[in-house]
Amino acid sequence: MLDIQKTDAATPATDPAIIRREDYRPPAWFIPTIALDFQLGLNQTVVHSMLDVRRSKSAKYQEPLLLDGDGLMPTSVKVDGAPWTDWQLIDGNLQIPLTGSAHEVEITVELDPSTNTQLMGLYASQGMLCTQCEAEGFRRITFFPDRPDILSRYSVRMEGDKKLFPVLLCNGDKVSEGDGDNGRHWAQWNDPWPKPSYLFALVAGDLVANTDSFTTRSGKPVELNIWVRDGDLPRTGHAMQALKDSMRWDEEVYGREYDLGLFNIVAVSDFNMGAMENKGLNVFNSRYILADPEVATDADFDGIEGVVAHEYFHNWSGNRVTCRDWFQLSLKEGFTVYRDQSFSADMGSAALKRIEDVRILRAAQFPEDAGPLAHPIRPDSYQEISNFYTATVYNKGAEVIRMMATLLGAERFRKGTDLYFDRHDGEAATCEDFVVAMEEGGDIDLSQFRGWYRTPGTPRVSAKLSHDPQTGTATLALKQSLAASGAKPEPSDMVIPLKIALLDPQTEAHEGEQLITLNRPEESFTFEGQKEHPILSINRGFSAPIILESSRTAEELAFLSSHDDDPFARFEAMQQLMTSYLLAQITGTPADRDVILQAVGAVLADENIDRAFLAELLLLPSEAFLGDQMVEVDPQAIHDAREKLRGKIGVQFERKFRRLYKQCVPGEFSLDAEARADRKLRNVTLGYIAASQVEDAAELAFDQYREANNMTAMQGALGVLSHMDADERTWAFEDFFKRFKDNALVLDKWFTLQAMSQRGDTVKRVESLAKHPDFTLSNPNRVRALYAGFTNNPVRFHDASGKGYQMLADMVIALDGQNPQTAARFIPSLGRWRRYERGRSELMRLALEKIAAAPGLSKDVSEQVSKSLA
Ligand code: PHE
Ligand code: ZN
Repeated sequence: MLDIQKTDAATPATDPAIIRREDYRPPAWFIPTIALDFQLGLNQTVVHSMLDVRRSKSAKYQEPLLLDGDGLMPTSVKVDGAPWTDWQLIDGNLQIPLTGSAHEVEITVELDPSTNTQLMGLYASQGMLCTQCEAEGFRRITFFPDRPDILSRYSVRMEGDKKLFPVLLCNGDKVSEGDGDNGRHWAQWNDPWPKPSYLFALVAGDLVANTDSFTTRSGKPVELNIWVRDGDLPRTGHAMQALKDSMRWDEEVYGREYDLGLFNIVAVSDFNMGAMENKGLNVFNSRYILADPEVATDADFDGIEGVVAHEYFHNWSGNRVTCRDWFQLSLKEGFTVYRDQSFSADMGSAALKRIEDVRILRAAQFPEDAGPLAHPIRPDSYQEISNFYTATVYNKGAEVIRMMATLLGAERFRKGTDLYFDRHDGEAATCEDFVVAMEEGGDIDLSQFRGWYRTPGTPRVSAKLSHDPQTGTATLALKQSLAASGAKPEPSDMVIPLKIALLDPQTEAHEGEQLITLNRPEESFTFEGQKEHPILSINRGFSAPIILESSRTAEELAFLSSHDDDPFARFEAMQQLMTSYLLAQITGTPADRDVILQAVGAVLADENIDRAFLAELLLLPSEAFLGDQMVEVDPQAIHDAREKLRGKIGVQFERKFRRLYKQCVPGEFSLDAEARADRKLRNVTLGYIAASQVEDAAELAFDQYREANNMTAMQGALGVLSHMDADERTWAFEDFFKRFKDNALVLDKWFTLQAMSQRGDTVKRVESLAKHPDFTLSNPNRVRALYAGFTNNPVRFHDASGKGYQMLADMVIALDGQNPQTAARFIPSLGRWRRYERGRSELMRLALEKIAAAPGLSKDVSEQVSKSLA
């Protein structure tokens, strides 16, 4: 038996089909209404569906009804009330030849949620049942045309054991409920809004709710519930506040009101992504709901606020106006990320938020755009759509929307979005529809701007400012180029909005920010009335997602790091200064360190500086970011150079750091800006004190750990200790484990902190953590905690032995058997093998080859691996 199976699996499978954007065809059949009945059970759920099917008037031929299915077998099929045998399963999909133009089709299937380890479709998580349907999970629940341009009205009856599933939730409104036989009960839910199948959701479980209410600006009351397991209730307050804030914000900023009397959120422990915007029933990874100061860091609190807002905003950008096909994914995701970023900026500090967003873009999207998996924000083809939930579609997509907002200005941008929502409400739209609405509503021609939708790669812009003292003219010469992955950059003509200012070196002021738009390969801009050579502040606020190559001197960058009035540009100048120095160090070119020390000294001496912003200014560019700037990456050399500079800064300013550290003593916990700034700066200064190798560093960190009344301080202390060779490290990690072993989200941090340790034994430690009784491949959060922590630790993941690569490859192969979607997300860290020095490059390639050779690989992993090796 086994042998035969093996031989079968080893015969070369045909490559997964490539789906192309240009092949889009409108559906041949529509499903205006669907009635579903669920007889729920953890091991057996019976799903009965009744579809009202209508042949499209524009369908040319008598096309049969084709319903997508994945792993389903009908136990009964009826057409117009009569049993029906004339059907076929083709590649798992159900084909029923029908002659009329309207029929009623009834299908019954049986599912086993307890064995659904992919977490797509209906699955069991800690005794509850829940669903995940985006992008193509509904076809694992019932046969259906599982594509986003089929909008249907759903009515759902669900029934199950009242003890196991006291709470029964679905989209829309609960219209009736009652008790059945044998300890069962049922609920009937109707969703008045037509929706695509990917927005369907159902939850059944033993849950409790934090209940609140919201009144929309037109006076309609909305009941709000956040459903969690008993005991987690006290950790739902922040999410609830974020929900109410988002509802108000969308009314005020976009004029969008909520459209049901009920809004439910459910937190689940096993979830592939962050959260899901199902109509009226958002399902969340519990890490984006549960928080209190003892278990959540300030970053966790921010993550919750952002993701709650993101999912809520989808109610308009995604649900009321949805996507025609999955190539348009950025239509909802790019726009919604832009909306949640703007919301968070309004709720807290806009400057810090922008710095954070750009950091994420550079850490996750720029590498993607420069590697083998590069794709435009509107891709042209895919094999597995799950692989296209990327930083490019989401975060670069958001940058593209932001550029349109910049070009139009707030008022015209709002006219554009109003037109978009009004015109396409209730429709499945395209990215093109959005751009057209921007053009008409905002009165602008975006023909050339559309390049951003079809072009992969990060544009490079070189900027050179010259000055003629005789005429008092400054000239800014700009050039842009773009490289297809791996190739040489070629001149390009993207539309690149650049916010700039010319600072007077004497007065440290400028005469106003200007927006210039580069839309040719080369262009010069002149500025009159400049007596002295001004200092160029460019791409202020990161107005365009580009790589800037400016010829500014270290002295000019140092000047900007002290005097630029645009916080992002000021931060960026310091980063640029440090980056250039470190790159020179790594490649053995002479560079001036004093200018950096002076710049750091200057910001430390700045009396008016915001403490949180100071903390940002002090951070060195990450090892990964430095690697991205190099033609051939040597992780060890990067690490050594960076640590050396950290140590030097630590030593040079030790007294100042200690003073700041003491000044930032925490009082009563609060989430207000001042208290958060103190926590942030305290952790950053602790890091520098430790980097200066002083004797009491471990003690200081350990004291911080012991005295902490919040997770930000605790994690900061543990982070510092994690790299050390000291008893305090052992004590703290042991204590942390004991205290939090029953809180999965906090235990995740314990795994991550160790995986991110810079110690030489980290590879070994990760290997043994993978065998820890609390480690499991079945929980995506736990897998990410250990392995994403590890791959985000360049110097240890890229251990010259290649051991890290092998461990990752083995994990991916094992995980692929149960959860292909999550497994595939780890391929990119090996995928950029061509960029590394020869030894590592070869070892990375071998790890990829090993994955490629594994039998029975999923479509998800095989697409990513084959593209990475191509
Ligand atoms: N659509 C979700 C979001 O961005 C993400 C998601 C995709 C969740 C696929 C689950 C599965 O909000
Ligand atoms: Zn989204």
